[in-house]
Amino acid sequence: MLRMSALRLIAAAVVAAVPAACSGDGTADNAATNPASEVPPVIKERQENFKAIGAAFKSVRGELESDAPDFALIAAKAGDINARAQQIPNDFPALTGIDEGYDTEALAAIWEKPEEFKAAAAKLADESAKLATIAGEGSKDAVAAQAMAIGGACKGCHDQFRLDDEKK
Ligand code: HEC
Repeated sequence: MLRMSALRLIAAAVVAAVPAACSGDGTADNAATNPASEVPPVIKERQENFKAIGAAFKSVRGELESDAPDFALIAAKAGDINARAQQIPNDFPALTGIDEGYDTEALAAIWEKPEEFKAAAAKLADESAKLATIAGEGSKDAVAAQAMAIGGACKGCHDQFRLDDEKK
C-alpha cells in the first residue's frame, strides 16, 4: 500500500511539472502563424521540387529560342520534370497548407479535392513523358507544341491549387 501511494505521488509530481516546464512566460502558444522553426520540412522539399521543375522547364524554353535546339538536353529535362511531377502528390501531407498559417502557397483546395490535385500532377507527368518522346524525334515545331501543353499543365494546377501572389 505504501509502495502504491509513493508511486502515485511520483506520478502526480511528474504531471504537475509538465505544465510548469512548458508554460514559459505563461501565454499559450496558439498564435495564428507558425514560427519558421516549426515549418514541416516537407514544405521546403516540395518548394525545392517546384523550383527545380521551373528551372528544367526554363531550360526547355531556352533551347527553343535556338535555331538548333539540343534535343537530347530537352529530353533529359523532360525526364527530370516527369520524375518530379510524380513526386508532387507525396509532398502534400494534411495540415501543411496556407490555412494552417505556414509560409506556403498551397491552398486548402489541395486537400478538399485530392483526386483533382492528383490528376493535375498526373497531367504534368503525362505531358512531360510525351515531351521526352517527341524530343527524340527531333522536330522543333513538335517540341514547341508539346512545351505549350506542359505550360498548360502548370497553369491548370496553379489556377486551382496555388495561391496567386497577385491576389494576396
Ligand atoms: C499538381 C499541381 C501543380 C503542378 C502540375 C505544377 N505546380 Fe507549381 N506549384 C504548385 C503548388 C501547390 C505550389 C505552392 C507550393 C508551396 O508553396 O508549398 C507551386 C509552386 C511553384 C513554384 C514556386 C516554388 C517556390 O516556393 O519557390 C514554381 C516556380 C512552380 N510551382 C513552377 C511550376 C511549373 C513550371 C510547373 C509546370 C512545369 C508547375 N509548377 C506545375 C502546384 C503545381
